[in-house]
Amino acid sequence: MARILPLITLLAASLPAVHAWGAMGHYAVAYVATNFVSTTTKSYMQTLLADTTTDYLASVATWADSYRSTSAGAFSAPFHYIDALDSPPSSCSVSLSRDCNGGGCVVSAIANYTSRLQNTALSASERQIAAKMVIHFLGDVGQPLHCENLDEGGNTVDVTYNKSSTNLHAVWDTKIPEHISGGSSKSVAKTWAANLTAEINSGSYHSLASGWVSGMSITNAQASALTWASESNAEVCTVVMPNGLSPLETQDLSGAYTTSATPTVRLQIAKQGYRLAKWLDAIVASL
Ligand SMILES: *[C@@H]1O[C@H](CO)[C@@H](O)[C@H](O)[C@H]1NC(C)=O
Ligand SMILES: *[C@@H]1O[C@H](CO)[C@@H](O)[C@H](O)[C@H]1NC(C)=O
Ligand SMILES: *[C@@H]1O[C@H](CO)[C@@H](O)[C@H](O)[C@H]1NC(C)=O
Ligand SMILES: [Zn+2]
Repeated sequence: MARILPLITLLAASLPAVHAWGAMGHYAVAYVATNFVSTTTKSYMQTLLADTTTDYLASVATWADSYRSTSAGAFSAPFHYIDALDSPPSSCSVSLSRDCNGGGCVVSAIANYTSRLQNTALSASERQIAAKMVIHFLGDVGQPLHCENLDEGGNTVDVTYNKSSTNLHAVWDTKIPEHISGGSSKSVAKTWAANLTAEINSGSYHSLASGWVSGMSITNAQASALTWASESNAEVCTVVMPNGLSPLETQDLSGAYTTSATPTVRLQIAKQGYRLAKWLDAIVASL
C-alpha cells in the first residue's frame, strides 16, 4: 500500500487541490484563532506578516497550498498530510516511524516551522514563511483524511455529492465545510468562525476547550502534533468510514452522510483554531 514518495510529490504538485482543507476550512481555523490570540500575539503577528487588518491570519492561511504547487515549493507537498498505514474502519492508528519518513509529513512540518518561527536568527522573510506554514498545517492536521493513507486519503474514492461526481477527500476538504458555512469567501468564514467562537466561549464547546490544549507544548512540538494527527486519524474509523467505503459509493453524500459528519467538521475547525491561537501565543511568549 505504501506509495513511492517522488510519485506522491509529483501528484500533489500537479494537483494542488488535493490534500488540503479547502480555503473555507483554512479561513475558518484562522478566524477562530484570531478571536483567541493575546493582544501581544496579535500585534507581533501583524508586524511579522505586514498586515494590520483583522484578516492578518486568514489572508495567509492558504499560502502553503499555492506554494507547494510551484517548482520552488514542490518539496513541501508531503508536509500537508501524514499517510497513516492503518486499516480503517477496523483499526486506526498513526505511527511516526511507520508513517512519517523520507520527505516528512504534517507532524514533522509543524515541528520544523514552529522552531523556525521561534528562531530569530532567521531572516524576517523566512520567519514569515514559517508563520504561514504553521497557520496552514495546524488546519490540515485537523482534517481526518489528511491523516490517512487509504486510497490516497480518499482522493481516489469516487463519490457523488449533490448529484455531481467528486472524491471523498474533496467532500471533507471542501464540500462539507462550504455546506455548513454557506459559502466559500472570507466573509462567510468570519461569520462561521464567530459561531464557533461563541460555542467555545459559552456554548457546547465551553467545557471542552481547556482539554483541547492540555499537555500542548511548543518545546515538544512533534508530540503535540502527533496527538492532533492521532485524534483526526481516529475519526476516519468512527466518522469518515465507520462501515467501510462501500456505503459511501452508493449514496449521495450531501444527505445523511453530511448530517452525520457535520458535528465532527465543526469540532475539528473550532479545535484547531483554538489550538492555533494558544500555539501562536506560546511561540510569541517564548521570544
Ligand atoms: C524545514 O523547513 C525548511 C524551510 O522551508 C526546509 O528547507 C527544510 O527542509 C525543512 N526541514 C524538515 C526536516 O522538514
Ligand atoms: C445542491 O445544488 C443545488 C444547485 O446548485 C443547490 O441549490 C443546493 O443548495 C445544493 N445542496 C447541497 C446540499 O449542497
Ligand atoms: C452556531 O450555529 C449552529 C448552526 O446554525 C446553531 O445551532 C448554534 O446555536 C450556533 N451557536 C451559537 C453559540 O450561536
Ligand atoms: Zn494543505
